[in-house]
Amino acid sequence: MFILGIESSCDETAASVSENGTKILSNVIATQIEEQRKYGGVVPEIASRRHCENISQVVKKALDDAGKTLADIDAVAVTYAPGLIGALLVGVNYAKGLSMALDKPLVPVHHISGHIAANYIAHEELKPPYLCLVASGGHSLIAVVEDYTRFRIIGRTRDDAAGECFDKCARAMGFPYPGGVQVDKAAQSGDSSAFVLPRPKVNGSEFDMSFSGLKTAVINLIHNSEQKGISLNKNDMSASLQSAISEILCEKTMLAAEKLGYKTIALAGGVSANSGVRSIFETECKKRGMKLYMPPLSLCGDNGAMIACQGYYNFNAGIRGDESLNAAATMSLEDI
Ligand code: KG4
Ligand code: ZN
Repeated sequence: MFILGIESSCDETAASVSENGTKILSNVIATQIEEQRKYGGVVPEIASRRHCENISQVVKKALDDAGKTLADIDAVAVTYAPGLIGALLVGVNYAKGLSMALDKPLVPVHHISGHIAANYIAHEELKPPYLCLVASGGHSLIAVVEDYTRFRIIGRTRDDAAGECFDKCARAMGFPYPGGVQVDKAAQSGDSSAFVLPRPKVNGSEFDMSFSGLKTAVINLIHNSEQKGISLNKNDMSASLQSAISEILCEKTMLAAEKLGYKTIALAGGVSANSGVRSIFETECKKRGMKLYMPPLSLCGDNGAMIACQGYYNFNAGIRGDESLNAAATMSLEDI
């Protein structure tokens, strides 16, 4: 079956056509990075307006690239939560209109479940149950993927998401938005032991994480050196920050995997593109004889293919939206 997947939760308008979930026939992304960079981050109203302008062309191109027409589409999958509400509403309403006009099922997809599904596209052998670390701009959590559509969150950040920590520290260092990838680049020629940064301890749940103390420590170091007129080595700071974030994410995931007895680990979300994160997980999983799955770099960030893929699993599980489908800015992965 052919599923059209639509994604508009943040600053990427994206659409894709998938065949039976994991075979991706097209994957079109219109990004707003250049424009949003002027403001140092995503301005929600601008994001909504650009989605509104771009969505028809993005969907048309996704169909063209796949060599399909609307008549070939069996279901329309769309991200409905979580994300910027005005941005989500554009995709949701567009998908509702298409589904009604075509008289084809509407399939709501939780954005985070889409990020997790990006792994199925690249790794046919990956099957639930397994443990997944999701690290993006808005979320950082460890989930047991019980089934393709059932998730249990066992650890989460208490404050900032890992991507947010990357981005805010990057901004303080003067890197353009989005900062995570700039930190990654600068870290390549930096010394990760140059700055001693805190690895916060979280009381209570042993798999929970925290990034706000690390972020504050980095920002304070940058501001203090600016006040003293000393120029701080950005490559060294980037390498130190990247190594701290990678260690926190990996340590918590390994602890959860060992305590709960999981031997299969997956990474998901924009931060899973980070070279430090990928390499520490490769090393630590190998050491423990665990199998590691990571999305290819092209599918780590927001895209339509992951929504078209998860849409297939949701469809098979009987998940449907109707004319009353609404978007939600926040929604737990457990409440799908
Ligand atoms: O999953 P995503 O594209 O959007 C959300 O759902 O939030 O994640 C975006 C986040 C941003 O914080 C971005 O800076 C971060 O992923 N990111 C990276 C890298 N590529 C993207 N962070 C560190 N290193 C990277 N290479
Ligand atoms: Zn995302």
